[in-house]
Amino acid sequence: MALFKKKQSISDELVLPEHIGIIMDGNGRWAKKRHLPRSAGHNAGGKTFRKISRYCSDIGIKYLTVYAFSTENWRRPQEEIDALMKLFKDYLEEAVKDFKDDSIVVRFIGDKTPFSDELKALMKENEEGSADRDGMVLNIAMNYGSRDELVRAVKNISAGVKNGEIDIDLIDENTISDNLYTAGQPDPDLIIRPSGEYRISNFMLWQSAYTEFVIMNKLWPDFTESDLDEAIRIFNQRNRRFGGV
Ligand code: FPP
Repeated sequence: MALFKKKQSISDELVLPEHIGIIMDGNGRWAKKRHLPRSAGHNAGGKTFRKISRYCSDIGIKYLTVYAFSTENWRRPQEEIDALMKLFKDYLEEAVKDFKDDSIVVRFIGDKTPFSDELKALMKENEEGSADRDGMVLNIAMNYGSRDELVRAVKNISAGVKNGEIDIDLIDENTISDNLYTAGQPDPDLIIRPSGEYRISNFMLWQSAYTEFVIMNKLWPDFTESDLDEAIRIFNQRNRRFGGV
């Protein structure tokens, strides 16, 4: 049973993180346990993604970033990559149909270059079609790698220095943040990693400097609204000091 039923009840009970990141891990193990192909695990993970993103929006989370495909995931078997691309395409086509009655702002973080023209067009359509909404910002990290993101930022900043737009002495932390895919967004307060792995896996390295991590022993396809509530409860028990006392 989900803890948060109505937006009005949330702040009464717990402090909500403004920005949640989720490393959606464990699809492969979920499928293996059932003697199913890995693609079946991703399909189940896709359903969980839809359910949890909807729930986050309903309870009033302002930003949700989900790790859907990393810069390293291209090393997987072609069959699995094809299944994931099909899943992304189906979701993006579905999301376009919801344009009229949804409030979620869809953004993609990562390098779009290697995706098919069809997928790129769907990403563009989703970003442009949802940009004027006023609800939760959903960042879908696709072909995302935090090191890659930092290299890109360094290149952008260097180009700015070279052409005289950026004064090297004025470069500060904001200059870096402003050149990341998440520019203008708050850093994640909470990052959840299901499936029991204690790794950051190249996800939001710069942005997570002061993030609270919650590792949960659930495979992503089995993750429920109540698990999200539990992660928020754990987050509420943490004493965030941001380097102070
Ligand atoms: C990691 O689990 C998961 C992925 C690489 C894919 C994540 C994608 C989804 C959950 C689908 C999201 C859908 C949309 C539409 C955004 P794993 O396969 O590495 O699991 P394992 O560690 O158990 O093998």
